[in-house]
This record gives sequence, C-alpha cells and structure tokens, in this order.
Amino acid sequence: MNLIQLGIGASVMLGALIAPQGAMASDGIKVEHLGSNNTLIRITGDSRYIMLPVQESNDDAGISIIVDGNIDRNINVRLAKSKVDYYVPLDLSKYKGHDVVMNVVTVQNRSNIREAKDDVCWNDMYLSENFDTTNREKYRPAFHHTPLYGWMNDPNGMFYKDGVWHLYYQWNPFGSKWQNMTWGHSHSKDLVTWEHEQAAIEPNGLGTVFSGSSTIDTENTAGFGKDAVIALYTSAGVSQTQSLAHSSDNGQTFEIYPGNPVITLDSEARDPNMFWDAENKQWVLTLAHALDREMLFFTSPDLKEWNLQSSFGKGIGAQGGVWECPDLFKLTVDGTGQEKWVLLCNINPGGPFGGSATQYFIGDFDGKTFKADTDNSGKIPTKWMDFGKDNYATVSWSDAPDNRRTLIGWMSNWQYAAEVPTIQYRSANTLPREAGLFVAPDGQIYMSSAPSPELTAMRNKALVSNKSFSAGKKPRNFTLPAANSGICEIALEIEGKKAEAVNLVLSNKAGESVAMKYDIKAHTLSFDRCKSGIVDFSQDFPAVTVTPTFENDNKIALRIFIDKSSVEVFGNDGKFVMTNLVFPTSPYTTLSVSADGGSARIGNLSIFPIKVK
Ligand code: FRU
Repeated sequence: MNLIQLGIGASVMLGALIAPQGAMASDGIKVEHLGSNNTLIRITGDSRYIMLPVQESNDDAGISIIVDGNIDRNINVRLAKSKVDYYVPLDLSKYKGHDVVMNVVTVQNRSNIREAKDDVCWNDMYLSENFDTTNREKYRPAFHHTPLYGWMNDPNGMFYKDGVWHLYYQWNPFGSKWQNMTWGHSHSKDLVTWEHEQAAIEPNGLGTVFSGSSTIDTENTAGFGKDAVIALYTSAGVSQTQSLAHSSDNGQTFEIYPGNPVITLDSEARDPNMFWDAENKQWVLTLAHALDREMLFFTSPDLKEWNLQSSFGKGIGAQGGVWECPDLFKLTVDGTGQEKWVLLCNINPGGPFGGSATQYFIGDFDGKTFKADTDNSGKIPTKWMDFGKDNYATVSWSDAPDNRRTLIGWMSNWQYAAEVPTIQYRSANTLPREAGLFVAPDGQIYMSSAPSPELTAMRNKALVSNKSFSAGKKPRNFTLPAANSGICEIALEIEGKKAEAVNLVLSNKAGESVAMKYDIKAHTLSFDRCKSGIVDFSQDFPAVTVTPTFENDNKIALRIFIDKSSVEVFGNDGKFVMTNLVFPTSPYTTLSVSADGGSARIGNLSIFPIKVK
C-alpha cells in the first residue's frame, strides 16, 4: 500500500477529509467552471486513473467523457459536495495519447443553494497510477463473493466451462449505491475462493447493462464460433430491450452484437434467461414482463431471432411487486424419479417478510408453454425458495458439470441494500446451493437448496464435537471460534422429544444476539435479528423470519454458516433455508442451546472454524 492510498483509507475510516499525500489535487487536472451547474475537467497529466471523490449522500453528477471531441461514455457519480467519503477510479489507460475532457453536469436544483464551483470535489480529484483495493471493511465476508469495491446487486450470466465457475454481477464501478449498471466478473475453481476480473460488459448507446444469462454455443448456432460464450442481457436505456454479446475467450471479454437489440417489446421487460432445449432442438428464453407481473417464453434457432410463444403468471402466485430475474430448469424429484420443471420468479417487493424474495413454481414445460402444478384445492400455490430476508435475484449456472443445478443469490434486500453499514463495497452473494426436488409431508413437490458440496472442504478441525446431550431449560453454552472474526459452520441435529421448542442463540459480549427457535408443534424455525447488532440503519432491517421445516417427525438437522455479516441456516439438506444479514458490533462468541416445555435431544453438534486461503 503506498502513501497516497493510505491517505484514502484513513479519510474513509475517520470520516474526515484528508487530502491525499504526494500529489497536488490539481496536478495534471484543469478545472473550468462554466456556470452554476456545469464544469469541464481537462486531463493534462498522464496517469492510469483519475480518482473521483464521492459523497454518498449527494446527488449524482452526470459526467460525459469526451475523447478527441467525441463522447466515449457517460457515467453518474455522486461527486463530493462538502466531504469525501471515498474515491472511485476512472481508468484512463485506454485513452492514452488522446485528449480527454470530462463534461460534468451537477444537479440543477443545487444552484438554488450554492454554485457547484464551491464543491470540494474539484480540488480533491487527483491522478494516480494505483488504486488500492485492500479490504477496509470489518463486515466483508471471508468465504462469500463480494465485489472488490462499489455496489453489487444481482448475480447474472453465470456459466461453467473447463473447470471454472464464472460469475457475473450487476456492478457500479463508480460508487457504493446502485448506478451505471455494468457486468462485473469473477471466477472460481471451488465456488468459495473468487478471483476478480475486469468488467465484462459495459454500458453503450443502447443503455446500461442489466441482468441476463450466458450459455455455451457448442454447435455454433449463432455463428460466432463453436463453443463461443453467448450472453443475453437487458439494455436499459429510455426503454428496456434485450441485447446479445459474445465471447471467444471464455467470458473474459465480450463483443457486442451490432444487430442489437434482438428483442423489443412495447412494455418493460428484462433479465433474459436462456437454455438449449435438447428435446425440441431450440433455444428457450424466459423474460420477465416486469410490470405485467408475468414471464414470457420465447424460442430461437440461433439466439438472434426470437419468437414469442407464451406467457405465464398473470394473477398467479405472489403479485405484490414487479417480476424479475427468471430461471427455468428441469430436475428429478428425489426418490420418485419423476421429472419436473422449476420456474424461478424473483419479485420485489412482496416477499414474505417484506421487500424482495424468490418465489418459484413447479410444473411442466413442453418447449413452448409452462403449466404450473396445483395443490389439493386446485390452486397454484406460492412457494418461497428461502425464508430469510436476504436472498434475491437467485439464478443458476448454465452448463454446470455432473447434471448439477447450482444456484447463487444476491445476499441483500432492495429495502435496505443501499443503507447497510459497509461503504467500500455493498453486498455479497449468498453461498452457492444445489437445487433439488422433494415431496413434503403435505404431498406437494418443493425445491430444496442444499449447501454446495465444495463448502465442506472449508471446514477446519472441529472446535466442538459433541455426540449427544439433552437440552433443557438451562442453556448449555458452547464457545464459537475466535479466529478470523468468528467465521464458522455449526452443524447439529435436533430431536424434539418432549420439548415444545428448542432455542439456539448466538451472542457476543456486547449483549447482541440472534435467536433461533425450532417450534416443534408448529414445525417451524424462526430467526430473530432484532437485537443482532447494528439494526437501525433501516426500519425494515430488524425482523423475525420464519420457515416451515417440511417434516412431521419432530427432527431437523441444521447447518449454520456464519461469515461476519451473514447467517445462513440450511435445514434437512436444504429442504428449508433462511439467509439473513446481521451486523454485530463484535463477532458472536457463544452458541447457547436450551429447550422449552421439556427436554430435547441434540445430536452430533460440531463447530467448525473455516479455512481461509
Ligand atoms: C433485480 C433487478 C433486475 C435488473 C437489475 C438492475 O434486482 O431489478 O430486474 O436487471 O436489478 O440492476
């Protein structure tokens, strides 16, 4: 880390403005104010980055980057007015040898108060050869994917090829709130350790780059070459249209198809998700008809010409918000061998505990039409994938090996994602999960999401390993690992016996706690984070979430993953799941186990510290 970067880190930590050392703010930068809300920045120096000062509470300034007289791109940055919260880098390397001018328009209404020329950002911009991405956040998870810096929402466009899991995500490279949607890119060989790559698809004249999907065109149906990676995404301009991009270097860089957009509609539609339908020898694409709260199905021979076949969803399922980010895939029902289709349908708001959540439908798909199964009363039931508040925009990897259907979500909620107490980056992904189907005691088929097998390899030698004990009124306490801010996995089995409920409480010295309760009669597990730590950044954050346990024998087996600012609870091999964020002021140190109304048996309690690479 060099001195300049130390200066930046310090200013963030102290929340005060510390001018970067070693560079005069104006070295190589010429600022010309043109009026109350328009400023030209001429870059006269020769450095890799111009560092832009951001104040999170500010409005966005619109910046056109003009290269040799032509607009190369437009970005929105919350340029600092009165104090600098952090810096974001604009990479100038591709403009080397060219004239670069940034035409900045700050919001009109601030001229009522004061002129933009008084803002601190102009003096605090500077040129730099480096941008330090060393972690500065105590809440940054250790075994979940996060962007190096900036805002992230949906995972999208994921594919597996040659032993590598590629993850793309909705990314703002110019701030820690939603803006400038770009496909960020990371890859992993084990779904746990992620390496960050350069941005994969950036905004162009058709708009910013919203969510979508990727596939490997093994038969060269699109004509971009055998095994080309094809991405379809939403171009979000004045309207939303669907665009194609292709890659011949395994998803490292993409070329934008000049014939875009490949799908246009006269109403808001987004998040194209496609797969090769081998039975009918065609590509199938599901598109969220967002405001109409339904999904549209298209088919294509070549990924470029798409024909609308049918729609599903009007008036069906949860309808409390827009429908987004679909996924459609076939799975075999555990123990029966029956094949069924799953339609994932993310909705925002309208989730079971407020805000965003993923609902799904089980049914049949004949290559053109999706028909959902009904319950005993003849109605199409609403089913939820995760009964926590923080698993959204979940979709699966295409071309995964061994017939796997591996899912990952955005571990946040639109209700408060922009307010959570991190600033260098905002939001992580959930842990990867394997989708399956099972028949529950009510006779219906549900989707399970079990922790991916790769996660077991993260376990270090168990710190606690207790074969069996009887839990009663008096809590029995177990110490959680202290290393690496307490990151760990807790595994245990609970047999209800005579008890009415079993309590599992995570707590720290500051008196903060997460209270989980297995209600044996109700067959539910609840998760209370009202006192879990910092909760007051949003009125929607303190909450109790509740999941059915989909059993009728009063027995559950849990795997609980704690990673600094998240707790993910998987029950009975993923038959029920709760993903919830938490922000304890110091790591939880104790697990307390007790039972209400009689004793319960706890079996095979293990607490595993997690290996960090
Ligand atoms: C879901 C979503 C998508 C859209 C993306 C934009 O969270 O609203 O529908 O493509 O976010 O970032």
